[in-house]
Amino acid sequence: MREKIAELTEASLMGGGEERIARQHAAGKLTARERLALLLDEGSFSELDRLVTHRCHDFGMESQRIPGDGVVTGFGRIDGRPVAVFAQDFTVFGGSLSEAHAEKICKVMDLALKFGIPVIGLNDSGGARIQEGVVSLGGYADIFLRNTLCSGVIPQISAILGPCAGGAVYSPAITDFIFMARGTSYMFVTGPEVIRTVTHEEVTMEKLGGADVHARVSGVAHFVRDSEQEVLSAIRQLVGFLPLNNAGDPPTKATQDPPNREDPALDSVVPEDPEKPYDIKAIIRSVADDGEFFEVHEHFARNIVVGFIRLAGRPTGVVANQPMHLAGVLDIDASVKGARFVRFCDAFNIPLLILEDVPGFLPGVAQEHGGIIKHGAKLLYALAEATVPKVTVITRKAYGGAYCVMGSKHIRTDFNFAYPTAEIAVMGPQGAVNILYRRELEQAQDPDALRRALVQQYTEKFANPLVAAERGFVDAVIEPRSTRPLIIQSFALAWGKRDWMPAKKHGNIPL
Ligand code: HXC
Repeated sequence: MREKIAELTEASLMGGGEERIARQHAAGKLTARERLALLLDEGSFSELDRLVTHRCHDFGMESQRIPGDGVVTGFGRIDGRPVAVFAQDFTVFGGSLSEAHAEKICKVMDLALKFGIPVIGLNDSGGARIQEGVVSLGGYADIFLRNTLCSGVIPQISAILGPCAGGAVYSPAITDFIFMARGTSYMFVTGPEVIRTVTHEEVTMEKLGGADVHARVSGVAHFVRDSEQEVLSAIRQLVGFLPLNNAGDPPTKATQDPPNREDPALDSVVPEDPEKPYDIKAIIRSVADDGEFFEVHEHFARNIVVGFIRLAGRPTGVVANQPMHLAGVLDIDASVKGARFVRFCDAFNIPLLILEDVPGFLPGVAQEHGGIIKHGAKLLYALAEATVPKVTVITRKAYGGAYCVMGSKHIRTDFNFAYPTAEIAVMGPQGAVNILYRRELEQAQDPDALRRALVQQYTEKFANPLVAAERGFVDAVIEPRSTRPLIIQSFALAWGKRDWMPAKKHGNIPL
């Protein structure tokens, strides 16, 4: 028996055999086991179900049983903390999903949910095992159900490291974060062939569902890297910001960066001219421990910036308007991007820092017809429902509905600060004057001079932080240099915060 077990174990280690492993390498891809070795702490992997095989009798499959059946599952550690993993093995029937393959994934997910530890899935698969038919489809649905049940309880991370097509995309889609590797991974619901037949469009795999398309255009991928090695290393970095589950706190990391460090450079980061752009990431890096910012969705909807920093060692989610891109305006993509990130942080006890410089929502027929009403509402809803500690800093513009949305005091943000350069009003001075004084401007002998005077008047009265500060809508007007010390103090006070939602089955976020 020992000999037999050793033989089967050896067979499972070799997957689809030397030739197919060589093909995998030639395609610029690693094997499932090589990937797990890079992802997990050395020697920490313990495997489940190494000897599982498929149960298919059709299409000559009886003679082709490979122990493990195209997916390697088990547990390991990242920086000493436990995670559950599954890695599809493309060398075994193209990593396709059989009933047994699905059962292995479901088993490790069920255990991860019970243990309260993250699940990381490395996807590289030709989709449903064609020889098994509906049994394979059932296996997918079993996984989708578990993805849904795990959502908000344990972090779920997907890496796409090869094909991921058809309904198979919906498992990663439900998970919290998707990583893709440039050049070797692609995701689509229907491929180029089907598209050519149905809509007569010509498109390549890469242009349809490659890593850059999903990172920049669709927003399906949260992270894109040049190689599998970089993807796996970035997953380790991400896990370092996350709690093991929704009942735990995110892990702290010791730092030499003093919590009371001021940064005089911030005093001049916001230009005098309100029309001039600046890089909001300069403020994010300035306040973060050791200047480290782990950006999520870097290439998608760049008018909003989201990601993780640490403040005095504690992981914090940042949501910030980016004046460098579209003047930091909120549009459909930015709203959806921000909302999804906020909901992740709220589900996993990660406090939120909101940096606000927003001229409003993007005007336009395309935005209105595209549903900016319901999509903008997502960000509002997400920030209003979030009960984690929340701190907002208004660096410059806080106009109109976007003022309310971006972590205003009214949607139960704990601390609201404003720089002296803040402009908090219903709309910008030009727009306001044009509406309020339309008649006077039409009749004036020198409308431009009158407009200039009225804009000046409006700016002095409203385009500043004073009215909001008088009402207590901002708690303090602060010197930009003191941003880091102040927000660290604020989060330290709010660390044990308890806030509630009324009892409900679940809310109905506008989808
Ligand atoms: C069984 C499969 C397979 C599959 C690939 N293989 N896909 N076996 N079921 N779905 C096998 C191949 O026969 C081959 O076996 C090996 O895997 C590698 O495949 P190649 O074609 O040689 O690799 P490559 O040229 O890299 O092409 C990869 C591929 C292509 C683009 C993924 O294999 C392909 O188009 N496969 C079919 C994809 C598909 O239509 N899947 C079903 C989608 S529907 P050998 O023995 O030669 O090594 C679906 C529904 C899910 O998934 C629904 C969920 C709700």
